[in-house]
Amino acid sequence: MKHIPVLPEEVVKGFEGCELRIFFDGTLGAGGHAEAILTAHPEIECYIGCDRDPSALQIASERLAKWGSKVRFVHGNFLDVDAMLEALAIEKVDGFFLI
Ligand SMILES: C[S@@+](CC[C@H](N)C(=O)[O-])C[C@H]1O[C@@H](n2cnc3c(N)ncnc32)[C@H](O)[C@@H]1O
Repeated sequence: MKHIPVLPEEVVKGFEGCELRIFFDGTLGAGGHAEAILTAHPEIECYIGCDRDPSALQIASERLAKWGSKVRFVHGNFLDVDAMLEALAIEKVDGFFLI
C-alpha cells in the first residue's frame, strides 16, 4: 500500500522559487514529501532523508530509488542533524523540513 503524505502541494509551494541543491528532510517517513520535492526540484544534488524508524527508511528507499545516489538515507534522530551533516561533509543546506 502506498503511503499518502499530508499536504504535499503545500510543502512544494513553500519552496517555490528556491534553488535547492542540498536538502535535509528530518522526518523522511515513507518518502512522499521527498518524492514531491525531488520532482519539483531537479536541481537537487543531495537529498538527505533522516528517520529514526528503519522500516520507514526501507519503504522510502524503494519509493525514491529512481533518484539513485542523490538521496542519502540516514537512520537517526533529526536532533543530531549537525553530526549527520558533518559525517557527510556537508557544511550548509539550502532547505529543510520536519513534517
Ligand atoms: C508523519 S511521518 C512523515 C511523513 C513523511 N514526510 C512522508 O512524506 O511520508 C513522521 C516520521 O517522522 C519520524 N520521526 C519522528 N520523530 C523523529 C525524530 N526525532 N527523528 C527522526 N525521525 C523522526 C517517524 O519515524 C515517522 O516516520
